[in-house]
Amino acid sequence: MSLSEPVTVFVCTTCRHADDATEAQPRAGARLAATLAPSEGVEVREVECLANCKRGPSVAMTRAGGWSYVFGGLAPTDGAAVLEGAQLLSRSADGLMPWRGRPEPLKRGLIARIPPIPGASA
Ligand code: FES
Repeated sequence: MSLSEPVTVFVCTTCRHADDATEAQPRAGARLAATLAPSEGVEVREVECLANCKRGPSVAMTRAGGWSYVFGGLAPTDGAAVLEGAQLLSRSADGLMPWRGRPEPLKRGLIARIPPIPGASA
């Protein structure tokens, strides 16, 4: 495995935030997506719904040969934390996002982690 692996961040653009009025536009997920600029080794893809609607705004991230993560309860201002987490996952030697150094929104917002797909290699 190389020193870093590309990470894909999926951000749900249709999530609402608990503090938003029901019809607030743009939605919190779209506001979060607007802050996520692709960076070295990190691709950002917008999606509509990650089936975590009650705990949105939601983001998932994955990398080849590594674990995948779903986060929720994010704020529209958490873009830097999301990108920092993606960089940690990219540089991880064991394919896990380390807890130490993980941004706080990605600690309290962890919904699930999924093991590497069997047979898939980095
Ligand atoms: S609307 Fe965002 S997870 Fe369903």
